Amino acid sequence: MKDQAEQLRHIVARLRQKDMDRGNARIITVTSGKGGVGKTSLTANLGICLVQMGYKVIIIDGDFGLANIDLMLGIVSRYGLKELILGQMELNQVILEGPSGIKFISGGSGMRELINLGSHQLDNFLKKIDELNDMADIVLIDTGAGATDNVVKMALAAHEIVLVVTPEPTSITDAYALTKIITSIRKDVDLRLIINRVRSAAEAEDILDKFTKTVRNFLGVNVGTLGSVYDDIHVSRSIREQVPYLVSYPNCRASRQVEYIAKRLIEQDTGDGRNNQGLVSYFRRFLDFFQI
Ligand SMILES: Nc1ncnc2c1ncn2[C@@H]1O[C@H](COP(=O)(O)OP(=O)(O)OP(=O)(O)O)[C@@H](O)[C@H]1O
Ligand SMILES: [Mg+2]
Repeated sequence: MKDQAEQLRHIVARLRQKDMDRGNARIITVTSGKGGVGKTSLTANLGICLVQMGYKVIIIDGDFGLANIDLMLGIVSRYGLKELILGQMELNQVILEGPSGIKFISGGSGMRELINLGSHQLDNFLKKIDELNDMADIVLIDTGAGATDNVVKMALAAHEIVLVVTPEPTSITDAYALTKIITSIRKDVDLRLIINRVRSAAEAEDILDKFTKTVRNFLGVNVGTLGSVYDDIHVSRSIREQVPYLVSYPNCRASRQVEYIAKRLIEQDTGDGRNNQGLVSYFRRFLDFFQI
């Protein structure tokens, strides 16, 4: 393991020198403490909304376990991140197009392979990632749930984290626990909440208020917000129908709220940290964290 870490450090240093790191896509990781709170469905619909607004968006399915962004977009994918990482496929073979022209790369066990890549393969992979970077204004990375090693590292590597919570007490305490871990490693992290499945605006306000105050008082960190989404029957219906609600039910409450969230996401882009960011450095940082 130590040898491998040393090898990775070496590759990372070499790539840094090569200055491949010129991308300026916004890399946003969507994560949560507890599972099943709506990350994947939010990511898919938010991505489509941003595409409809004119942005070039690529979703990367970073869920190690139950990769399912393709299902939510109604596309059957046979290949994805894993094949790209292993060098078995080219970018144009693994980037699929979903409704409204949203682009995505499906996941599965891909990230695991990345950690074990040899230097030549890693080099090749990062070159492809660099191309991908040029193709996107915004990259949304949908992660699995929880404070597992991989999720924390994927979140830390991004410069923007969207944390999805629901009003369930366990979802809130798990989100707090994840925030604590993330901010203990990186205090400057840009963390914003989406409160999903709320029953009223007051409920959303209340959760937001308590969460941000608790995090500020106990962890000394400011957490922002992007908005909330109501518990809406169209969400589960659209998942069953495998057509995102933004496409099939554009006027439902969830669609309008996702539109609001997408606008906030654009408005709240300060551009900070775009220099020297991009996907190549995202993956480098992700690998760097594995050496800790
Ligand atoms: N706003 C909503 N209104 C109603 N139901 C919702 C809403 N958001 C999510 N759901 C329900 O929650 C379920 C889980 O959603 P989703 O798969 O997007 O969660 P997830 O956080 O990605 O889960 P995992 O942690 O397993 O990846 C969906 O099948 C859907 O029925
Ligand atoms: Mg999911």
